[in-house]
Amino acid sequence: MLKKWIDEAKHTVVFTGAGMSTESGLPDFRSANKGLWQSKDPSRIASADALNNNVSEFIAFYRERVQGVREYGPHKGHHILAEWEKQGKVQSIITQNVDGFHQQAGSRKVAELHGTLQKLHCQACGKVYDSEDYINQDYHCSCGGILRPSVVLFGETLPEEAFDFAMSEARKSDLFIVMGSSLSVTPANQFPIIAKDSGAKIVIINKEQTEMDHIADQVIQGNEIGEVLAELNSP
Ligand code: APR
Repeated sequence: MLKKWIDEAKHTVVFTGAGMSTESGLPDFRSANKGLWQSKDPSRIASADALNNNVSEFIAFYRERVQGVREYGPHKGHHILAEWEKQGKVQSIITQNVDGFHQQAGSRKVAELHGTLQKLHCQACGKVYDSEDYINQDYHCSCGGILRPSVVLFGETLPEEAFDFAMSEARKSDLFIVMGSSLSVTPANQFPIIAKDSGAKIVIINKEQTEMDHIADQVIQGNEIGEVLAELNSP
């Protein structure tokens, strides 16, 4: 059914979460027994407060994640989505991921709701650096301020441009496909609802149950995203 919907849709938006990049080698956050938040408390290390009051744990955690996104890269699923954009089968991607893999695979219209680990910026003056500097342990800006990854920390607002683009795309969509997200974090998890309210068909592709399965027109559960996309992409 999904193959037919993709062929017939006029404005398909793909919404991805950390499950889109586990086949690249990155951990997700809430997968049973292996997600990052199964062993770490996000409020202690991934919050604006942690950046000011728990700096060494914050830097250690993000240094490891920066190393991960620089060591790994897009898998076949990312490349298929980029191919579908070129073929006009997908109009845009809204991602919660900060790895930059959609763009590395060639996708052009990507809204990064939670920022990116590919860049750092200075807390004091806002100057932008490549995240390579985080690996070389150079955590200070030339102005003396602290460098931090350009990701959205818990308690921070989402980047306005990405949010507005995602809102406009969700409202225009007639097919909205969620891939690899538990849909448990607001406001990102509101986009499938906005798309549904705008008349889109909702499809959720995820290994486990999500918080929004009840609003989906189709749920493809239990399979690896890479396999599902390869199957959908086969003639
Ligand atoms: N194929 C299909 N589904 C997968 C795969 C895979 N290869 N790997 C993992 N999954 C599923 C998991 O079962 C899980 O339900 O992807 C989902 C990922 O959910 P989360 O780990 O909660 O990740 P996400 O929804 O992206 O989290 C949202 O939370 O901590 C914040 O900022 C962080 O952007 C993140 C946000």
